Amino acid sequence: MKKILIVGNWKSNKTEIETNEWFQRFTIYDLRFTNKEIIICPPFTLLSNLKSSILNHKSFIKLGAQDISPFDEGAYTGEVNGKQIKEFADYVIIGHSERRRYFGESEDIIVKKIEMAQKYELTPIVCVSDIKQAENYTRYTLIIAYEPLFAIGSGNPDTPENANEMAKKIKEIIDAPVIYGGSVTSQNVKSFTQMPSIDGVLPGKASLDANEFASIIEKA
Ligand code: 13P
Repeated sequence: MKKILIVGNWKSNKTEIETNEWFQRFTIYDLRFTNKEIIICPPFTLLSNLKSSILNHKSFIKLGAQDISPFDEGAYTGEVNGKQIKEFADYVIIGHSERRRYFGESEDIIVKKIEMAQKYELTPIVCVSDIKQAENYTRYTLIIAYEPLFAIGSGNPDTPENANEMAKKIKEIIDAPVIYGGSVTSQNVKSFTQMPSIDGVLPGKASLDANEFASIIEKA
């Protein structure tokens, strides 16, 4: 049975109180599947809170950050570096299209971030919207998230057939798991995870609701 990765990207959402509520609701569900790996990527401010909740409840959830400094520790105001992230998380999202678009992240910066993640043994989840971007990462050990721009936050996901075709093409050039992101819900998750070249999903909005996220995990 293939391993299915389900990565919740909370983006710039939630306070501590909201996170505690989310966790309480989520832990009601019995979601231990041996073939499913569940990763939550909250904002940096919530990593510590979630790490404690996970330890206290012996939860199976793994943690990821949403970004990483391209630099090591030092005089880089506002940045959070790999050594700091590793205290809380095992994964890090890199090169999300929102970072490329709103924060001008270049391929050069993204590659530096991947190298920092590797230095601190964080698994990079690198987001791409086309095959050309993927060509820049062929020499790294990572997870690729295929996220077509039109599908992000639009309620208009890619077709499972097209996403599978892209995942297949990416795998021809990179030996990596490929997950799909863009308007994933509990209603459509299975249509993606049942595709032969797709190894999981990266829901954004749908991961903010504990009931909906639990339902995604059940149905994946
Ligand atoms: P939505 O699931 O809200 O469309 O977001 C997808 C995404 O960008 C995940 O990284």
